Amino acid sequence: MPAIAIIGAQWGDEGKGKATDLLGSRVDYVVKFNGGNNAGHTVVIPQPDGTSEKYALHLLPSGILTPGCTPVIGNGVVVDLHVLFEELEALTKRGVDVGRLRISANAHLIADYNRTLDKVTERFLGSRRIGTTGRGIGPTYADKMNRIGIRVQDIFDEKILRQKVEGALDLKGQVLTKIYNRRPPTVDEIVEELLAYADRLAPMVCDTGLLLNQALDRGETVLLEAGQATLLDVDHGTYPFVTSSSATSGGACTGSGIPPTRLSQVIAIVKAYTTRVGEGPFPTELFDDDGEHLRTVGAEFGTTTGRPRRCGWYDAVIARYAARVNGVTDFVLTKLDVLTGLEKVPVCVAYDVDGTRHDEMPVNQSDFHHATPIFEHLDGWAEDISGARTFADLPVNAQRYVEAVEQMSGARISAVGVGPSRDATVVRHELI
Ligand code: GDP
Ligand code: IMO
Ligand code: MG
Repeated sequence: MPAIAIIGAQWGDEGKGKATDLLGSRVDYVVKFNGGNNAGHTVVIPQPDGTSEKYALHLLPSGILTPGCTPVIGNGVVVDLHVLFEELEALTKRGVDVGRLRISANAHLIADYNRTLDKVTERFLGSRRIGTTGRGIGPTYADKMNRIGIRVQDIFDEKILRQKVEGALDLKGQVLTKIYNRRPPTVDEIVEELLAYADRLAPMVCDTGLLLNQALDRGETVLLEAGQATLLDVDHGTYPFVTSSSATSGGACTGSGIPPTRLSQVIAIVKAYTTRVGEGPFPTELFDDDGEHLRTVGAEFGTTTGRPRRCGWYDAVIARYAARVNGVTDFVLTKLDVLTGLEKVPVCVAYDVDGTRHDEMPVNQSDFHHATPIFEHLDGWAEDISGARTFADLPVNAQRYVEAVEQMSGARISAVGVGPSRDATVVRHELI
């Protein structure tokens, strides 16, 4: 059986958590392959008594909520051990069985000095800041590339751990003191903090690449769940206003140890409009009442930092780009219900850059910064669609919106979200 990737097509918060949860019961493994606790996935699970349970996950893969499914933190992830055990404890208290979690021995650890460096660097950058989540993600990936990172396996050998922390602090201690005027932590402080988790962590740690490839050999299904999204990817996103990991389908392979030849499907989650958190270009961004309307109705406030999300109309240029970069086989169009009540729904079909029409992403970032959207205005609908469960249940104009967006976006739209809950989904083509 195949490996399937779920990725975000825009700037994150498209509803990847809900989609992963929806498919969780049909897969054997759910793997987080990139990022760390910068992610925030909200999952709403309907209960037999008609109420619903809401979960906010950051570091853990959303598959942890599905009984019988094995959640895996892959080698491409950066792990904050304090956050890991905090999330595990919170879920255990709510009755979720977290005993199956497996963590790659090669995943990198977020050390305290990297949390500090993330925050002080942002302050130092001032108006040039990225607007990071302040969780130490960027500095930890930088250490990985600089070959001074600390990995999960290092905490099982105190001597090695001490050597590595010393090596890292030789450099980073100087940066903290001399550039940022901060007292760096001592080697002992860092070693002690990390060692404190070793015994609890040990039973979860393994060669997750081997585990997953053996599962595929046995015919089991593996779902690879992205944090962040295509336009936040360090290679393919709006650099430098990106995160520091590979959030696209290529990253699903490098971040899990599953080879590209085993990936049979790439499902992209895309919102029926667009949002972004943090700094950086955003051609369809709205600064008027329409933007406020989308933010209020769509409850567009960050799951991780609580920041209001910037809101704008659907951008088909971005969707086509995501389809190409990721090799998307299916889109899941989420939050269609948020557009209910609008008389006309603008959709960006191309950009105008200094009088020239661009149907694809401009090659130069500065062109993207002042790209003006060229809109097509589709007819809206007034009927409440949150109860729709088949495509035919949707009002004709909502159906037309989905079909028009599908035409423009480079892959079929296989499911449509009409509410936050797991069951508030219209399936057009079975996803797995
Ligand atoms: P992720 O980071 O991609 O997993 O997305 P987030 O969880 O950060 O943000 C998506 C938000 O939209 C969450 O609050 C979800 O509960 C909610 N959501 C997901 N799909 C739908 C949908 O189809 N309609 C509505 N109204 N909300 C949705
Ligand atoms: P999910 O998985 C939206 C953004 C931050 C910032 C930039 C870099 O929930 O979709 P970082 O802390 O990663 O160095 O910040 O990336 N960002 C996200 N935006 N959703 C996310 O995750 C994000 N993770 C990071 O706001 O602009
Ligand atoms: Mg999110």
